[in-house]
Amino acid sequence: MGKVIAVANQKGGVGKTTTAVNLATSLAAVEHPTLLVDFDPQANCTSGVGIDARTVASSTYEVLIGSQPLADVVLSTEMPYLDLAPSHINLVGAEIEMVDIPERERILRRALAEVQHRYDFVVIDCPPSLGLLTLNALTAASSVLIPVQAEYFALEGLGQLLNTIKLVRQHLNPELEIEGVLVTMFDVRLRLANQVAGELRKYFGDKVFQTIVQRNVRLSEAPSFGKPVLLYDATSIGSRNYIALAREVIARSMGRPDLPAPATASIGGDGAGHGHS
Ligand SMILES: Nc1ncnc2c1ncn2[C@@H]1O[C@H](COP(=O)(O)OP(=O)(O)OP(=O)(O)O)[C@@H](O)[C@H]1O
Ligand SMILES: [Mg+2]
Repeated sequence: MGKVIAVANQKGGVGKTTTAVNLATSLAAVEHPTLLVDFDPQANCTSGVGIDARTVASSTYEVLIGSQPLADVVLSTEMPYLDLAPSHINLVGAEIEMVDIPERERILRRALAEVQHRYDFVVIDCPPSLGLLTLNALTAASSVLIPVQAEYFALEGLGQLLNTIKLVRQHLNPELEIEGVLVTMFDVRLRLANQVAGELRKYFGDKVFQTIVQRNVRLSEAPSFGKPVLLYDATSIGSRNYIALAREVIARSMGRPDLPAPATASIGGDGAGHGHS
């Protein structure tokens, strides 16, 4: 039965989609069958793996309103072992259209139950809000991965997210765990970035991934070519960081959180914090 990881943070632009696409790709690269679920009307995940959202016949929108089973929506991608449940701009209206549906927070969970056995991992990309779409993702998930951008006000809003996670545990999904907190867009030259990472470690302890995703131009270029970074530039820092993250996620799923990530991807491993301030 696949492990379902929701990538969530209601703050915009913190690296959710970049993380969902590249974590899913890195898991697939080591031959773990993986399903990437695009649950954001912006459809950035869908275009990020080279599929034009305007041309998809059906999407996670049809799944949510109950007109299509998830299995009929899933597409294969250029990457072996990686499937995609695409999104469509229609998804914008889903939250409103669903107000009368009973148990509307559990629709994705039920839909996933039918396909989950085919995958080792399911990675869900959430939109930047704590509305019904994110609630569906958190209700369907075994765990939530929280990307946090290493910048000012990084911790702002995290309380609200943690509170939502608590409520979901109480009312919808008692098994929901925190997979980990991921520091993203880390700039090795900035002392501030180190401070943010330090503060996160103080608060979340070993829930913070050892892997830190550095700011890397390859990661921001790859989506415009419709490619995960691994297919765009396999030797880039961004590729290496997300491979390291996948190793950690695999280790945690095997109950071995102690398995060290490669040094290149952790604080200090690249000389972070030395020399510049
Ligand atoms: N490590 C990185 N290095 C450089 N650029 C990055 C990195 N991570 C993300 N970006 C870029 O930052 C922008 C925001 O990232 P992304 O779309 O992943 O965030 P998001 O949290 O999904 O945003 P939204 O809340 O709008 O869904 C994108 O242009 C992306 O290419
Ligand atoms: Mg996004």
